[in-house]
Amino acid sequence: MNVLIVDDDQTNLIIMAAVVRRVDDAEPITYSNPLEAARWLDANEPDLILLDQMMPDMDGLALLQRIRQNKRLDTVPVVIVTADTSAETRIRALDEGCSDFLTKPIIIPEVQARLRNLLALRQSRALLRDRAALLAEEVQRVTAALQRQGEELVLRLSCAAEYRDPETGAHLERMSRYSRLIAEAAGYDADFCNDLLKAAPMHDIGKIGIPDLILLKPGRLSEAELPIMRQHAVIGHRILADSDVPLLRMAAEIALSHHEKFDGSGYPNRLSGAAIPVTGRIVAVADVFDALTSTRPYKRSWSLEAARAYIEQNRGTHFDPVFVDAFLSRWDKVCEIHHAHLDDHLTDLHPMDF
Ligand SMILES: [Fe+2]
Ligand SMILES: [Fe+2]
Repeated sequence: MNVLIVDDDQTNLIIMAAVVRRVDDAEPITYSNPLEAARWLDANEPDLILLDQMMPDMDGLALLQRIRQNKRLDTVPVVIVTADTSAETRIRALDEGCSDFLTKPIIIPEVQARLRNLLALRQSRALLRDRAALLAEEVQRVTAALQRQGEELVLRLSCAAEYRDPETGAHLERMSRYSRLIAEAAGYDADFCNDLLKAAPMHDIGKIGIPDLILLKPGRLSEAELPIMRQHAVIGHRILADSDVPLLRMAAEIALSHHEKFDGSGYPNRLSGAAIPVTGRIVAVADVFDALTSTRPYKRSWSLEAARAYIEQNRGTHFDPVFVDAFLSRWDKVCEIHHAHLDDHLTDLHPMDF
């Protein structure tokens, strides 16, 4: 450990350096000029500083003041060595942040004992600081790993759903991007918008619980089949709910609420207005718009303009006006997303192929 000694008297410097050398692991660095010592301190951090009080140019207290102004050095103990034993000097030195005093003439065993104590304290403080930094790093690493695991889980679940759902992967790509776009335009923070991007693709995960005859039926569903198909919202929620992973909780909320309508005529809970979670209200716009503009086994796709007109016509009935406006305010970007992610045919098989 490095001990900086500043004393204008060369003899004192030699004696102090010798005393420091006799303390385990301590190495003296000596300066007879306090201004030079101050310059050295601008670039170095010793483990302990011994300052003579009476020095020309800059006395011990002035140098102590300068040291304490330096944030980097604020945990380095400073000992003032002084012949002045008045209470006033001691109080002033303590006020300036001095850690201990040594009275001249020094008693060598006393100096050694004090140095040992202060260096031991310094060492244990450094250890604690290192351990705290290490723990903080570890917490950060584990948190990041958990986040990645959550995201991977989401991705795998979405992938599993894709195998059964005639909707294409491109639909999920587009509708999740539209969802994020709407949230951004409506002023939500970046974390929420990015979580929405990752959670939205699971909106129809519940379809894995719908019988093939209904899920893959090429034509319109009958009155009897419709309620069964609509169960996908509740099934999706059951699959995803009560997770410790925040992303899955958001996905569960979306699965349950993406078919609710703003006027209360949706399903499964006929919620209306602000009772429908924000995520569900956003995804509703994104999902319907993309469903209309996608090619499905049972229908041709609508033009972007026709789908836009449909969203506008249902502003305030099916869709939350706030999010319709947010969606339309980024129309250029909507068209860009649509063209950048055209339907693939990976899972877009005709129902007869299953
Ligand atoms: Fe759905
Ligand atoms: Fe969808």
